[in-house]
Amino acid sequence: MYVVKSPLPDADLKTVSEALQGALVDLVDLSLVAKQIHWNVVGPRFRSVHLQLDEVVDTARQHSDTVAERASTLGVSPDGRAGTVASSSGIGKVAEGWVKDTDAVGTLVDALGAVITRMRERVEATGEPDPVSQDIFIQITADLEKHHWMFQAENG
Ligand SMILES: [Fe+2]
Repeated sequence: MYVVKSPLPDADLKTVSEALQGALVDLVDLSLVAKQIHWNVVGPRFRSVHLQLDEVVDTARQHSDTVAERASTLGVSPDGRAGTVASSSGIGKVAEGWVKDTDAVGTLVDALGAVITRMRERVEATGEPDPVSQDIFIQITADLEKHHWMFQAENG
């Protein structure tokens, strides 16, 4: 069912919509992983890591909304269902239970690294077909890379 007419030709729309859908699941999962660790972190650096994780949640939630609404704008239905996120996220599964602060930081370094790699691929893929979506991916990558820097510095 097509409700919203896309400004892009079909071939370009396919590339861009796959990039937006991939970004959506990665960002939803990142928000969930960051909250999971936010609740489970223990250790002497509890407070700073706990608070820092909510900053990642805010970034991930805000950008997940941006990419989902960009998909809708282009006439493509965004899929943010739990099952879809679980089956297609680029972030590895996080272990259950309490997490030592150093491991919590390491988990975020890995999770952010995985999402950033895929986000940079989306920047490359969308430059030609849709620079407007590319601009969104560039902004997201900049924000994620800033978080990535700060978590790496935490364990330096
Ligand atoms: Fe909280």
